[in-house]
Amino acid sequence: MSLMSKHYILEKNVILLAVAAVLAVAIGGLVEIVPLFYVKGTIEKVGSIRPYTPLELEGRDIYVREGCYLCHSQMIRPLRDEVERYGHYSLAAESMYDHPFQWGSKRIGPDLARIGGKYSDDWHRQHLKDPRSVVPESIMPRFGFLFHTDLDTSDIVAKMKVQRLLGTPYTQADIDDAKKDIVTQDTDNSDGAADLAKRYPGAKSRDYAGLPRHVTEADALIAYLQMLGTEVNFKTYDDKANIR
Ligand code: HEC
Repeated sequence: MSLMSKHYILEKNVILLAVAAVLAVAIGGLVEIVPLFYVKGTIEKVGSIRPYTPLELEGRDIYVREGCYLCHSQMIRPLRDEVERYGHYSLAAESMYDHPFQWGSKRIGPDLARIGGKYSDDWHRQHLKDPRSVVPESIMPRFGFLFHTDLDTSDIVAKMKVQRLLGTPYTQADIDDAKKDIVTQDTDNSDGAADLAKRYPGAKSRDYAGLPRHVTEADALIAYLQMLGTEVNFKTYDDKANIR
């Protein structure tokens, strides 16, 4: 029997063809996926990555709720034009506490993986209220309502418990203090700021939306934007030392 006629058997038998197709795809998939389990550098170890503070976590939920990810990616690819425009390419570790991740698949606006610290809080306030007031050709929608919507923190404990279930190492104390931490991080010169920064290294406490005595959705969103991509110090970070 020639090889062609053997193939003929396969073509005439739907079940056999289905089984063979599944087998072929499975082998192809395994060849791509299995090596990742053995490469230590798949998720490089970067010590400075910390879980989101409760305020940042709330901000991230607003980012998701408002569909920011439909226009913005958070994933800088290791290609020259991207690295020159946005900064160091994204490390896997930088989204290790993102459940679900916000890599996105579309860039109607620029990538936001390293937006933290690029602009002042005041710029973000202006831009969210009226994008065209700072970037005349912008097509981004206005999000002014976030500034007069108080942040609903009633389910922050449940949210953090879910994050913990998914592998984010929040301690019981972090969860117990969540509501207090939210107020602390949105206040200037607060006594609790040092304690917050001890548990969440690098966390900055200040009045993000410029609305004293109010914790609004805008406060949470700007707090989140201002920490994006700031956790790794790329002046001292060594790719080679981390990818073994
Ligand atoms: C309809 C698409 C669209 C949506 C939805 C959208 N944006 Fe934008 N965004 C843009 C565009 C286009 C720009 C570039 C022009 C500008 O700066 O306004 C931009 C710019 C930005 C910038 C400045 C980036 C830089 O590097 O200069 C930030 C920050 C930003 N958006 C945040 C957000 C947030 C937060 C949300 C959700 C609340 C959001 N965007 C929703 C389209 C969008």
